[in-house]
Amino acid sequence: MCGITGFTGSESALPFLMQGLSRLEYRGYDSAGVTLISPQGLETLKTKGRLSELEELLKSRTLNQCAGIGHTRWATHGVPSNLNAHPHENEAETISLVHNGIIENYAELKEDLIHAGYHFQSDTDSEVIVQLLDYYYKSEQNMFTALKKTLKMLRGSWALCIVSVYEPDTLYVAKKESPMIIGQYEKGTFCASDAPAVLSYTKDILPLADGDMAVLRPNSLQVYNAAGKKMQPAFIHFPYDVQAAQKGGYDSFMMKEIYEQPKAVRETLRGRFRGMKIYMPEIDELKTDWQNVNRIVLIACGTAYHACIYADTLLKRDARIMSYAQPASEFRYCSPNVDEHTVCIFVSQSGETADTIAAMKLAKAKHCTTIAMTNVLGSSLARQTDTVVYTGAGPEIAVASTKAYTTQLVLLHVLMMKISEKLGYKPKNITRRIRDLKRMPEIIEETLGYRDQMKELAHMLKDQRDAYFIGRQLDYPTALEGALKLKEISYVHADAYYGGELKHGPIALIEKNTVVVALATQPDIAAKTISNIEETIARGANVILVTDQNIPAEKFHHVLRIPDAAPELANITSVVLLQLFAYFAAEEKGCDIDKPRNLAKSVTVE
Ligand code: G6P
Repeated sequence: MCGITGFTGSESALPFLMQGLSRLEYRGYDSAGVTLISPQGLETLKTKGRLSELEELLKSRTLNQCAGIGHTRWATHGVPSNLNAHPHENEAETISLVHNGIIENYAELKEDLIHAGYHFQSDTDSEVIVQLLDYYYKSEQNMFTALKKTLKMLRGSWALCIVSVYEPDTLYVAKKESPMIIGQYEKGTFCASDAPAVLSYTKDILPLADGDMAVLRPNSLQVYNAAGKKMQPAFIHFPYDVQAAQKGGYDSFMMKEIYEQPKAVRETLRGRFRGMKIYMPEIDELKTDWQNVNRIVLIACGTAYHACIYADTLLKRDARIMSYAQPASEFRYCSPNVDEHTVCIFVSQSGETADTIAAMKLAKAKHCTTIAMTNVLGSSLARQTDTVVYTGAGPEIAVASTKAYTTQLVLLHVLMMKISEKLGYKPKNITRRIRDLKRMPEIIEETLGYRDQMKELAHMLKDQRDAYFIGRQLDYPTALEGALKLKEISYVHADAYYGGELKHGPIALIEKNTVVVALATQPDIAAKTISNIEETIARGANVILVTDQNIPAEKFHHVLRIPDAAPELANITSVVLLQLFAYFAAEEKGCDIDKPRNLAKSVTVE
């Protein structure tokens, strides 16, 4: 989604702004721009397209100003265009701002401002903010008061960074439901919408909380909370370096991240076991009355939602409790039947997904216990739930999620076992599961050895428009995730079905050479899945079977035997194969793997 950078200091601001924006490119964007500010005035350059096009514009200019703001935009209101690109200025060209988020009441505000004599240049919701700032500045003659008055008028979400000719060395920053961080180093003070933008300058970052405002000057920083109270900035140490956010030796971030999975899983499980006992103090510390908990709900979007389906299936095996997984975008609008006896678990790599945060707020309003699982320290989700457990995937840059998913799977596995225990149940097969969780980094390492085979198999998709993924029970979320990966990055149409559902419709689509990826890793149900596969073979399907069961290979076209592990963990290894399969299909088709069309890494608007 959109990216923001801002800088004020004793050296030229432009290099900071541009390097920051380039580090945020992975979020997906359609236009980019900067405003540089000096006592002589504002200089704004912006363009539709990639950062390289903005760089072209900047080339012929001397821009040594020591303060400025930058933005990469992902259109929400108004098509991608030069005029709709940020920063936006007021008519008098005295104030400029960048904005992430959505102003829900912008149409009413715009109408009032037009009545008051204002003229608008863009179709964006963001432009009303700068016009409002102008309006209030005229009466207040003070930017801080003008900002406070402006924010009071807005409904929606924002991360804002503002510069003006009135105080050319000062950045005004505000945050509500859209991430914003602040940092400092000896040559200046800066802000950004995400940590990778600032990591080459500092690893100590201050994530703003909802309602916060901040005033940034070259050598000073003031932070105010929503009530207007001056706060002592509480910096946190960000544990990753810039290297971790770069491609390393791989062709793409996605491949690098696929290969980082053993490490990411190891980091995620670090310290989670004391011998054969689960250690999760974040859950022990909850004030929840577990004896009276009667419902567990797992809520997320996209890939994280598939992890929730896995966790729900697992929990149903271990504990006799009502549970379900639901996409956040559905939960928030379905009048969920949840209350103080419900535990809601929110899973999000970024911790900033708008639907997931809205669902979490609803659950809180209904007095549920709220648990966050996220990959980002201090993210909005992490800050607002009763407790948070972190995955240790490190920054994930490729839009298609890989290591975030497998780390969610292992941590959810541990969390579900912990919750089963809290509810008074002993998870089945627990000794083997814990033993194999501990071995999981090595098991994934071994699975990555299938790389060349997956490349060969992906070749099957060269001239295919469709592929089908089937699985039952714990294999079903893997089928969903395999299909999602394939369509996200290779644009091959892919669907996932429960094996038993094939004959109720989808089998009509199977014809000669249709690619079917079948997962049969669950001993109690594998034979049923095999029957489903045979039905597709009889209709000419080209089947890839992923299994660890003792199934005679000669019946099938391609059999991939995943390393032996507890059946409850087989989905972790099989999904790694499906990630590679999607990757090589996309490579074969020449797709931009790290930046698939129409998708964004972090969806911070509804
Ligand atoms: C976007 C991404 C997906 C991701 C989903 C949820 O759609 O493209 O890869 O799974 O958001 O993101 P989250 O950060 O909440 O896990």
